[in-house]
Amino acid sequence: MSADGFTTAPPPGAAADWTIDQGWNAYTAEEHAVWNTLYERQTALLPGRAADPFLKGLDALDLHRGGIPDFARINPELQRLTGWQVVAVPGLVPEDVFFEHLANRRFPAGQFIRRADQLDYLQEPDIFHDVFGHVPMLTDPTFADYMQAYGQGGRRAAELGRLENLARLYWYTVEFGLMESPQGLRIYGAGIVSSRTESMFALDDPSPNRLGFDLVRLMRTHYRIDDFQQVYFVIPSLQALLDATLQDFGPVYAALDAAEDLAIETVLPTDRVFTLGTQAYARAKAG
Ligand code: PHE
Ligand code: FE
Repeated sequence: MSADGFTTAPPPGAAADWTIDQGWNAYTAEEHAVWNTLYERQTALLPGRAADPFLKGLDALDLHRGGIPDFARINPELQRLTGWQVVAVPGLVPEDVFFEHLANRRFPAGQFIRRADQLDYLQEPDIFHDVFGHVPMLTDPTFADYMQAYGQGGRRAAELGRLENLARLYWYTVEFGLMESPQGLRIYGAGIVSSRTESMFALDDPSPNRLGFDLVRLMRTHYRIDDFQQVYFVIPSLQALLDATLQDFGPVYAALDAAEDLAIETVLPTDRVFTLGTQAYARAKAG
């Protein structure tokens, strides 16, 4: 354990909390061009698909100036709106480091950008996923509070051996969440809004189940990291999400002790079903 109490020491060149300098001046013209290509593709798709808080956040941060955003330029505005900041990290960071940043309203973002031949798929979150996908939502005061509370909840979940369940909450909300709106379902999860193909699949494809958000039920549900989701959970509003998660998770974790995990495609009689998916996409992939 390092002096800061983190379980894993940072890589050479990183600070004790794993942050690095963004090194904005060192991005190449090709790297800025990759950002622009991805940015234009997504912003053409997202009106009518992305939730209002996401679209508002995108505007507020003025991420469309061209090229990879300089954190030194985004941070004053983000700070003013919700007290959040983006900090650069080399890539994925250990869970305890991640929680500590979130609990202090710092979002750790990958410094690197994918190559031009990897526009649609990469294994580790890059700056496009992290900044385009995650940061706009952090301009929303309710979501901003949710993310901080999540960071605070992480330490406790670790102590109670419930990290897997807490990770599912992150996955099905922060990364792959859908939200109701008067005009129909909208996407707000960063994994969806930063992906051209999943922005369409998540809302339009008949394959996945789309089910109402239910905290314990969701925390029982496995997820897949290798392909489109087989189930999406729909929140009524960001306030409803925050209200459900600000409660003490003691009883929630106790309920999980008494319940079994659920296979991804499970639909329970108690689920609020927005779409009963065909699962055709996942079945075709499975062969
Ligand atoms: N309320 C949770 C707890 O008591 C913490 C938490 C908040 C977790 C928000 C996730 C999201 O542990
Ligand atoms: Fe992410």
